[in-house]
Amino acid sequence: MTVTTPHSGASRRNLPHAPFLQAIRGEQPSRRPVWFMRQAGRSLPEYRALRANVAMLDSCFQPELAAEITLQPVRRHDVDAAIFFSDIVVPLKAAGIPIDIVPGRGPVVDMPVADRAAIDALPSLAPEQLAPIHEAVRLTLDGLTDTQVLIGFAGAPFTVASYLIEGGPTKTHQRTKALMHGDPESWHSLMRTLTDYIITFLKVQINAGVDAIQLFDSWAGFLPDRDYRTFVAPYSQEIFAAVAAAAPGLPRIHFGVTTGELLGSMALTGPDVMGVDWRVDMAAAAQRINAALGEEVHSSLRQAAGTDSVGADGSASDAALLGSSAHQPGDIVLQGNLDPALLAAGPTIIDREINHLVRTTDELIATGQIRGHIVNLGHGVLPDTRAEDITRAVATIHSV
Ligand code: CP3
Repeated sequence: MTVTTPHSGASRRNLPHAPFLQAIRGEQPSRRPVWFMRQAGRSLPEYRALRANVAMLDSCFQPELAAEITLQPVRRHDVDAAIFFSDIVVPLKAAGIPIDIVPGRGPVVDMPVADRAAIDALPSLAPEQLAPIHEAVRLTLDGLTDTQVLIGFAGAPFTVASYLIEGGPTKTHQRTKALMHGDPESWHSLMRTLTDYIITFLKVQINAGVDAIQLFDSWAGFLPDRDYRTFVAPYSQEIFAAVAAAAPGLPRIHFGVTTGELLGSMALTGPDVMGVDWRVDMAAAAQRINAALGEEVHSSLRQAAGTDSVGADGSASDAALLGSSAHQPGDIVLQGNLDPALLAAGPTIIDREINHLVRTTDELIATGQIRGHIVNLGHGVLPDTRAEDITRAVATIHSV
């Protein structure tokens, strides 16, 4: 096998005909692009067979296995993007922090990192410690055509921090918020360390050749907007800036669950594509994001007058607070937002949902409110979703 190092800096693929990238560039895609969060793993019998005797985090460090699992849903469902098979806690594991993923539960840390001493004792992470990740990305790219993209990813510092501080999944984020508000200095120190890990993790994937990246701040929706901006947004912004510096033009996606109230602030951290969960209608999502990006939404369908009320809702100060995004109103691409539960509700219902979604986003594109749309779920595929239902939904999306 070819020996590669995380520094070998493979050049990026040039993919003029990939529908996923066409949509992001604001071109008419050759077909409607779709992929699903959590498409790799869980719902696929061929995944369960491969993983039968390998622990989740061990599988992430086996390049052939990780590449094969990444490719399985692309082969089976004919989706337009592969999401790299890994996990948001992989950089922690690579740095040597004792962490495990418990089936049906999620990431678990034996010794939670919840005070200054533990935060100061966190190790550093060098790209060489992620060599298997580099290799897995290279192997995956070998298995994709030039119309299929590979999305690399990382968890955002807040979401990763919540597992470290709580010691496992939480429904309240109580300890995380206690540290954030009770000892802000330690909080910022932890965010600093995690931001460095995450940038290293993303750069390894970028150097290995991924075609786009997604930053998952899955649990950011637990925070009010004010706390999000003070304690979280600056770090996500730094990560997006580091990606832009490492790979100019590489598409950057941002996503979190229950982030209806945060969509504007999240968009200001600098992504090109905003993932939207199923609770928010896409038209409302576009409006909130465009308001935050500095102007009212241009829409000939809405009010006939009142086009110069910029800043009335505080959007101008949003931009000042967070620094400017590269994007103007109308420039953002949306990703989402079918309800994952409805994927299993039968063909009539999911087809109706798909039709509503694409009618809404086609209209938003036609009226200049968004640049493009990538179909996805509002969160991940639920584990008991039947593979056949996913394949069928993809075919419907490609046909409407
Ligand atoms: O298909 C994909 O999305 C590709 C790979 C991927 C995994 N995790 C594999 C995985 C991605 C992108 C992630 C990201 C991830 N991991 C997030 C952010 C995305 C989101 O869903 O909000 C989060 C919060 C995690 C942490 C994590 N890891 C959770 C909550 C779980 C689920 C626990 C469970 O079993 O319900 C994991 C485990 C995990 N990550 C699995 C997979 C395929 C299941 C492992 C198994 O098969 O036992």
